[in-house]
Amino acid sequence: MNPIPVTFAGMGLGLPSRIVTNADLAQSLETSDDWITARTGIRERRILDPDKALSDLAIEAASAALKASEVSPEDIGLVVVATCTPDTFMPATACRVAAAVGCHSAGAFDLNIACSGFLYGLLTAISQMESQGIENVLLVGGDTLSRIINWEDRRTAVLFGDSAGACVLRRSGQGALLGFDYGADGAAGSALAIAAGPSAPSSLPEDYKVTMDGRSVFRFAANILVESSRRSLEKAGVSISDVDLIIPHQANLRIIESAAKRWRSGLDRFFINLDKYGNTSAGSIPVALAEALNEGRVKPGSLILLAGFGGGLSWGSVLLRWG
Ligand code: ACO
Repeated sequence: MNPIPVTFAGMGLGLPSRIVTNADLAQSLETSDDWITARTGIRERRILDPDKALSDLAIEAASAALKASEVSPEDIGLVVVATCTPDTFMPATACRVAAAVGCHSAGAFDLNIACSGFLYGLLTAISQMESQGIENVLLVGGDTLSRIINWEDRRTAVLFGDSAGACVLRRSGQGALLGFDYGADGAAGSALAIAAGPSAPSSLPEDYKVTMDGRSVFRFAANILVESSRRSLEKAGVSISDVDLIIPHQANLRIIESAAKRWRSGLDRFFINLDKYGNTSAGSIPVALAEALNEGRVKPGSLILLAGFGGGLSWGSVLLRWG
């Protein structure tokens, strides 16, 4: 495919201040730091205080991204919030964010495809910039999975955390989308789900919790991370060895190690921060990208591969030339 211009003009983070360690969880669950670290690589996660909502994290991240970008909020044409844990079903969290940060001339909507949300959001933003001539898009990925976890279920409670990451995307500049892939397999959706919803028949309060078949999600994730990335790389005509930094969805270190093995690559080519945050769903990739940028691991001209998977079951991958 031909490169499509897109430049990350600024990025920002929204992270809860409260840190919950594996040892903290072991006080109320039959688990241990050793088990969680060995099976997942996660050591601690951030949990949002009860009097706050996703929009608090999203607004913090969006404000920081706008400031870093030096783009005026009035010049943002579209605000997208990728999340499966909005404050409310209506209004969309994107409307709250747009109002709070002063994007008064922007359209706004939420996008829900769980952990793949930021990648779907990025592709949607780019296509809106291409087809509608929008100059600047504010894209936030964030989730507060702590609100929909069954804290008595050790198979899921140890995995997740809360975060938001935001970026201001610009249609001009030196950056480009070089390749992408995305998809979904609804037939396998029950492997990772929340049974309840506003129009689900006879939802019970306990159905508003995440359930997961860990082993099948693991198998799916380890495979699709590599397969989807291969399709993105093929579209761009490059190989994995040309990529400067791989930023995978931060779900489980063993999933990342499995991809590294298939690519015969060292882990040093991956950006990994799941030890600090756990799996933060739609926040995972933008937070990792923002931290990689802050640490100097993303440079002008770098080839950056973002790859993720999640509820749906869904997946996506994006190859970028950094502007
Ligand atoms: N502490 C201690 N023991 C535990 C825990 C825990 N927190 N959780 C499970 N166990 C036990 C199980 O009960 C089981 O015991 P049993 O053999 O007596 O029945 C044993 O540990 C092994 O359980 P498995 O499920 O086989 O463990 P596995 O090695 O598969 O690891 C895990 C489980 C970490 C959930 C893994 O399957 C995984 O990471 N799956 C993918 C999860 C994922 O990525 N989800 C999110 C993707 S999408 C999104 O981001 C929303």
